[in-house]
Amino acid sequence: MSDGQATSRRAFLKGTAAAAAGAAAAGAAKAAEGPDPLITEVQEWAQITGDGVDATPYGLPIEYEGDVIRRNVEWLTADTISSINFTPIHALDGTITPQGCAFERHHSGAIALRKEDYRLMINGLVDQPLVFTYEDLERFPRENHVYFCECAANTGMEWAGAQLNGAQFTHGMIHNMEYTGVPLRTLLAEAGVQTEGKWVFVEGADASSNGRSIPIDKALDDVLVAFKANGEALRKEHGYPVRLVVPGWEGNMWVKWLRRVEVMDGPVESREETSKYTDTLEDGTSRKWTWVMDAKSVITSPSPQSPITHGPGPLVITGLAWSGNGAITRVDVSTDGGMNWTQARLGAPGQKMALSRFYLEIDWDGSEMLLQSRAIDESGYVQPTKAQLREVRGLNSIYHNNCIQTWWVRETGEAENVEVS
Ligand code: MTE
Ligand code: CO
Repeated sequence: MSDGQATSRRAFLKGTAAAAAGAAAAGAAKAAEGPDPLITEVQEWAQITGDGVDATPYGLPIEYEGDVIRRNVEWLTADTISSINFTPIHALDGTITPQGCAFERHHSGAIALRKEDYRLMINGLVDQPLVFTYEDLERFPRENHVYFCECAANTGMEWAGAQLNGAQFTHGMIHNMEYTGVPLRTLLAEAGVQTEGKWVFVEGADASSNGRSIPIDKALDDVLVAFKANGEALRKEHGYPVRLVVPGWEGNMWVKWLRRVEVMDGPVESREETSKYTDTLEDGTSRKWTWVMDAKSVITSPSPQSPITHGPGPLVITGLAWSGNGAITRVDVSTDGGMNWTQARLGAPGQKMALSRFYLEIDWDGSEMLLQSRAIDESGYVQPTKAQLREVRGLNSIYHNNCIQTWWVRETGEAENVEVS
């Protein structure tokens, strides 16, 4: 017996002992049912060879994970060109969203723009208007940052009542990636912002152009002109080759296929788009310039698309929390609709304007639960209940719904989107 075999055998024995301990802890009495062929028989996949190294030059998830995909809700929009789909957050873990399943939001479709044809213009109230090629951008010092991007409309269908049955649909207009790019302030410094320059107007190269005004303080703070996400080129649908990253602020300002930054003395108010993302209040008046995404959280499992498939005993409750105002410092979980709260465990210390993963391991007695999570950020802000949010904002809003979500988990393990009063 070679050393390698001896090692793997020891590892195997250790593995079985661990599995047995796990089964005992879970109260599963598998042994009584007789031998398990998956343990006692040599399986088909051990009698053949697998795929060679070049089978998939760019790898895709294994076919068994085929349901971990973006989904849209057909009745929400008239066509897929100006539409939205949702990240399968119910099926992911950790915090990084793979680009291939990160939600998409386009106003006039995702365009294919070659790096060679890429130009970024900086004009307006600057000493020297400039045009950068993609290669020019690559010659500036780069930074890497993980940030979440949340569409202002995320959870927007839930204002009037519990509606969409799954975390993917209620909270899936969010993704969290590691971006590589050049700070916008570096490029603005190159052009020389004049003292009257108080805003930047940013627009994309697509037909909708998605023009938005951003106050100069934010533009000079942490905004990134990004060309990589999770280490690789941006996908077409996320703005290849270059997009704007506006940490903590609503997704509509994260201009894709970024082509122009104009320094101005005020916001561009005349355009329909700039005034679109307002929050209509009960009395018909609107809140506007609500750019920061307030602290929010959701339990991703168990949830309607991720029911409990085992009996009573150890249960891992997990979810995501985030805040546009900084780092998440604490997440509480309730199993009784908000009457009692237990502090959850953060997978890692919260990072500013990035998703945090939380876990609460419980011993589930098999009875029904009203599962909720509540995020708290470094500013001390506590995620509000639905009732608290409605008191301030009424029922006419679409945008910026950051209320506490409730999943009703039944004895069967199935879960449903509900509201508690
Ligand atoms: N940028 C351009 N050029 N065109 C667009 O349609 N949609 C915006 C923003 N940037 C949009 C855009 C909206 S509303 C959101 S929520 C984010 O992009 C979504 O980014 P994603 O498609 O990478 O998820
Ligand atoms: Co959006």
